[in-house]
Amino acid sequence: MRQKIVAGNWKMNTTVSEGIELVNQIVGKIEEVPESVHLIVNVPFTHLFPVSKIIGDIKCPFCKSKISLGAQNCADKEKGAYTGEVSAQMLASVSKAVGTVAGAPEGATGAAVEYVILGHSERRGYYGETNAILFEKMKLALAAGLKVIYCVGEALEERKAGKHFQVVENEIKEVLFNLTDEQMKNVVVAYEPIWAIGTGETATKEQAQEIHAFIRKTLREKFNALAEETPILYGGSCKPSNAKELFSQEDIDGGLIGGASLKADDFLAIAKSF
Ligand code: PGA
Repeated sequence: MRQKIVAGNWKMNTTVSEGIELVNQIVGKIEEVPESVHLIVNVPFTHLFPVSKIIGDIKCPFCKSKISLGAQNCADKEKGAYTGEVSAQMLASVSKAVGTVAGAPEGATGAAVEYVILGHSERRGYYGETNAILFEKMKLALAAGLKVIYCVGEALEERKAGKHFQVVENEIKEVLFNLTDEQMKNVVVAYEPIWAIGTGETATKEQAQEIHAFIRKTLREKFNALAEETPILYGGSCKPSNAKELFSQEDIDGGLIGGASLKADDFLAIAKSF
C-alpha cells in the first residue's frame, strides 16, 4: 500500500513566531489525523530549528511518527562561496543542533529535516531552475539522507496546446530517470498544474487522475514495480471542499497544499479527507 501524504508548503509565509503557533496548533490536534495518513510541514529555512524542536518534543511516540519536517529548497552546490544559499547537508544537520542548545536534556535531538521540495514551478519559473539544476540538487539532497518531494506540472498555455503530457514526461525523464532504484525509493512526486496554483482553479478529479496515471506509467518504464510504491501527490488549490474527491482517485496519494496549509484547521480537514 502506498503511503498517503498530506504535505504543507508554507512558501514565504508566516513570521517565525506565527510559524511556531501554526505548527503547535497542528501538533495539538494531530490525533485527529487518520492512522494511514502522514503529514509533512515544509517550512521556511528560518523556521526549521524551532519546528524541529517542537516536533522532537512531542511526547506520544505515535503522534510524533505522524508528522515530518521539510524544507522548500536546497542549493545545487555542496558547500562554499555561494552567498545566501543553504546546502542539503545544512538541512540534514538541524536536528542534532537542537540537542546542543543550553538546557537541552542529554542526548536530545530535534525532529530531522526529512524532506525537501525540489522543482516547484515557482522555483522553475521565478528562479530559472532547469531540469539539469534540479538533478544536481536532487543528487545532493539524497546523498545528505533527505527525501525529495519532486514537483512537475504544466502551464495553462501548455495544457491548452495539448502539451501537458510531454512537459511532465520531460520533467520526469530528465531528472528522475537519472536516479537508481535505491535513490528513487526516497522520492515523492507532486503533480501541480501551474494554472491551478494559488488561483482557486483546481484540476478536475478526472484531469488529475489522468495525469497521475500517466506519471505512474512513465515511472514504470524505468523503475518497474517501484512505480506502484511511489506516492504521487496533487497540488494546486487543494482545499477541504475538494480534497475528498481528488484523494478518492486511484493514483492520487495525497496532496501538496499551499494556501490551505496556513490554517491548521483547513490542513487537518484535508488530512481527514481520505
Ligand atoms: P496552492 O499551492 O495550494 O496555494 O495552490 C500549492 C503549491 O504551490 O504547492
